[in-house]
Formats: sequence, C-alpha cells, structure tokens
Amino acid sequence: MSTKKLFDLTGRVALVTGASRGIGLSSAAALAAHGAKVLMNSRSAEDLAVCCQPLQAEGLAVEACPFDAFDIEKAAAAVDAIVAKEGHLDVVFLNAAIQARAPLMDFDSADFSRLVQANLVSQWEFGRHIARHMVRQGGGRIIFTGSILGFMGRENVTGYTASKTAIHGIVRQWSAELAGKGVTVNAIAPGYVKTQLTAALHNDEKFNTWLTTRTPLGRWATPEDMRGAIVYLASQESGYMTGQILTIDGGLTTTLL
Ligand SMILES: NC(=O)c1ccc[n+]([C@@H]2O[C@H](COP(=O)([O-])OP(=O)(O)OC[C@H]3O[C@@H](n4cnc5c(N)ncnc54)[C@H](OP(=O)(O)O)[C@@H]3O)[C@@H](O)[C@H]2O)c1
Repeated sequence: MSTKKLFDLTGRVALVTGASRGIGLSSAAALAAHGAKVLMNSRSAEDLAVCCQPLQAEGLAVEACPFDAFDIEKAAAAVDAIVAKEGHLDVVFLNAAIQARAPLMDFDSADFSRLVQANLVSQWEFGRHIARHMVRQGGGRIIFTGSILGFMGRENVTGYTASKTAIHGIVRQWSAELAGKGVTVNAIAPGYVKTQLTAALHNDEKFNTWLTTRTPLGRWATPEDMRGAIVYLASQESGYMTGQILTIDGGLTTTLL
C-alpha cells in the first residue's frame, strides 16, 4: 500500500461556492494547491478576478465562476456548463451562506424566510442538481458548511440556526441515499471564524472576552483553520467517511470551561 501523495487531487474538478473571501477562498486555494482544478464562485466577477490572479500566478488551476448560488436556475445552468466543458465535477464545497442577527421577538419574518431560502432550500436544490451529475458519473464528494450553531443554542441567530441545523440533517440523510452510488456527503461545522460574516462581533469587547475565555484554544478561528479538513473531505483518503459533521471549533462545543 502506497502512502505517497496522500490528499493528491490531481485530475479532480472542484466547485467552491462563496470562494471570494473567508472560508471559501482559503479552501479553494488549498484544493488547487493539492492539484484540483477549482472553479471559484461568488456573485462578483470583479472580486473573483482579484482572488484568482495571485493563485494563477503561482501556477494553480483556478477559474472565476460567477453566479448567484442561491438562484437554482442560474446555479444549475452554471454546473451543467462546467460538466459539459470539463467532462466531470468531482467535488463541490457548498459553502456560501448569509447571516442576520436580531432577538427572537424582533426577528423579521421576511429575514427568517430569506435565510432559510438561501442557507437551506437553495443548498438542497443546488446540491441535489450536482448530486445527479455525480451519480451519473459514478461518484463524487459533496461537502457542506454547517456550524456549531447546528449543535448549540445562542441568542439572536434563529434563522441561521434553523438552516444550519437542517443542513446537518441533510448531510446524514443524503449520505444514506447516495453512499451506494459512490457519492459521499459530509460537512464541516466551524466555530467562530474571523471573516466578514462575523464582522459585527470582531470589535465587540464583551463577545471577544467571552469567546477567547470560553474556547479552550483561546482564540478566534481563521479561514485557514478550515482548509485542511476540506482537502481531506475532497480527497480519496476520506473515501470511508460519509454522513459526518466535522467540528472545528477550538474545543468550544466539547468543554464546559
Ligand atoms: N465565519 C464564521 O464564524 C462561520 C461559522 C460557522 C459557519 N460558517 C459558515 O461558513 C461559510 C462561509 O462563511 P464565511 O464566514 O467565510 O463568510 P463570508 O466571509 O461572508 O463569505 C461569504 C462568501 O459567500 C459569497 N456569497 C454570498 N452570497 C452568495 C450567493 N448568493 N451566491 C454565491 N456566493 C455568495 C460571498 O461573496 P459575494 O457576497 O460577493 O457573493 C463570499 O464569497 C458559510 O456557510 C457560513 O455560514 C461561518
């Protein structure tokens, strides 16, 4: 048994949604660094061009793939075009999501519907469309981004928590349906990662004190803390793992500090 070149993604085609910043950008770069051809998605062609340029200059095979990942018709058409051009799509990291914060009693019902539509319904529609391609080609890797809020309650995030908890359920349910077809389905569940999504919390002294005290590893996560798990879940080495939620949270959800 060879242990050479573990996590080698040469020849694989990967799509990463929400790849213009944060967890998606860091993970897309890591997938490309391990040999994959990576289609980097967000809504902004300009932002993606800025992200791709330095990676292409390093010789990595990345391409901008701008579309609204929450618009199922546009997203499905984009994936059909990728499969038509590349011949296959081996890995998808369904990572783009949005957040809105307000106390439960003040939470706008329209915001709740918007979050559930973006973070759950569109992920289900788009993921299923991709799964059809993967089943047809005989296999693939579907990776979702869950959250520790899929395990634990916290104030002000009712729409996000509902959608991420359901994503964890989808991972388990899809793994049962797709395992026999060669498609694995897993997710990462990040703790608090310093990105634009959490910008409202970065300078909140009370929150920072709570987080750094409550987290055994004593700090915010960085997007780079997530990328090794994504490379693993995309690779052949995760072939016996499906239906799992991989928590990366500095120990926050496993301790009572
Ligand atoms: N940060 C955290 O603490 C944390 C914790 C747990 C889970 N997560 C999850 O991790 C994932 C990434 O979060 P992040 O913190 O890296 O967020 P981020 O920095 O806000 O990045 C979000 C990315 O998604 C893209 N995006 C937003 N709407 C889109 C759409 N309709 N179509 C395509 N792309 C879209 C954004 O680009 P455009 O806006 O230009 O389209 C951007 O590239 C999310 O699923 C989030 O829920 C984050």
